[in-house]
Amino acid sequence: MAPLRIRVYGDPVLRRVAEDVDKVDGAMADLCRQMLTAMYEAPGIGLAAPQVGVSQRFFVYDFGEGPGVLVNPEIAESDGEWTYNEGCLSVPELSWEIVRPRRIHLRAYDLDGGEVGIEAEDLQARLFQHEMDHLEGKMLLDYLDEDQRREAKRILRRQAMAARGGPLGPGDALTLP
Ligand code: NI
Repeated sequence: MAPLRIRVYGDPVLRRVAEDVDKVDGAMADLCRQMLTAMYEAPGIGLAAPQVGVSQRFFVYDFGEGPGVLVNPEIAESDGEWTYNEGCLSVPELSWEIVRPRRIHLRAYDLDGGEVGIEAEDLQARLFQHEMDHLEGKMLLDYLDEDQRREAKRILRRQAMAARGGPLGPGDALTLP
């Protein structure tokens, strides 16, 4: 099977609110394995389903203690505040100081359909919150002020142009507004 492609800023799937998972089955377990492969290759420590074009509420992660999957996650409680330089595989090569709660209590399901409750803090809490943003169609750019966002979009446009080999690709002349 072809490796999964990680979607980048500009792909509409990243802006969609993902659907609840109502059945955990073998196909989803396979997809999680493929997502973990893509995540390790990137490399990253978390990857949400919308980032591979699947608008469903789950994500995979590994902080270095082995792979995990959380399904239909919800934050039950959060407190504290922590600023940290945060990046995203869907916004390549960029990162910003982002303020988030330092601690969270999260409820979710695992791949066997069992309920899990997790107390997380610092990097772990940040990663979970970041991945859960993806399930809401939210991206790091939404945390920036106007100037930062304008600069980020300029860089991302340049990356997109470089990726397709120049400002005018075949067919571009036909898509003028
Ligand atoms: Ni991300």
